[in-house]
Amino acid sequence: MDSKAKRSVLFTRDEIAAAVSRLAAEIRHDYLDKNPVLIAVLKGSFVFLADLVRQLDFPLEIEFIRLSSYGGGMESSGTVKMAPGALSKIKGRHILVIEDIIDTGLTAAFLLDYLRRRKPASLKLCSLTDKADRRRVVVNIDYRGLAVPDKFIVGYGLDCDEKYRHLPDIYVLEQ
Ligand code: IMP
Ligand code: MG
Repeated sequence: MDSKAKRSVLFTRDEIAAAVSRLAAEIRHDYLDKNPVLIAVLKGSFVFLADLVRQLDFPLEIEFIRLSSYGGGMESSGTVKMAPGALSKIKGRHILVIEDIIDTGLTAAFLLDYLRRRKPASLKLCSLTDKADRRRVVVNIDYRGLAVPDKFIVGYGLDCDEKYRHLPDIYVLEQ
């Protein structure tokens, strides 16, 4: 870990846990009898997904997808590339996309459009965090966790150049 990068806590693990529990209750209410497919966007959502699904006590399936819109830096390039993944089971299924953060919205808009064309029974988006000030395209977040300011955040799955994903709290990284 880079000891020179300064960071300050934005959300403690307890605040994150409360948000995850609230989202789990909302999702449980809506998907109890739907056997949904949760599609988690790698890598950032892996911690959130793990905590979320352990609070969902009903049948569901989990798939992973990898998209990239970042190089090594903090700015979105605005382009996305689809990695090969398990996308065969979209048609006719209730799909819930699990994201760590919606920033410009370009990644989510691309992925939702990609999935919609494969004719799911329903398609919704859950994001742990929402950096709404940065939005460049309209994205409807059906299950929204924590509003974050226009700062670069790390921890709880979120990285900067592949660092900090393992931290249990969410921090603002000074740029
Ligand atoms: P988009 O700009 O909404 O397309 O977000 C693309 C991706 O950038 C997100 O899924 C995250 O992986 C990453 N990202 C955006 N903002 C942050 C941040 O503050 N910290 C860490 N990753 C971020
Ligand atoms: Mg992401």
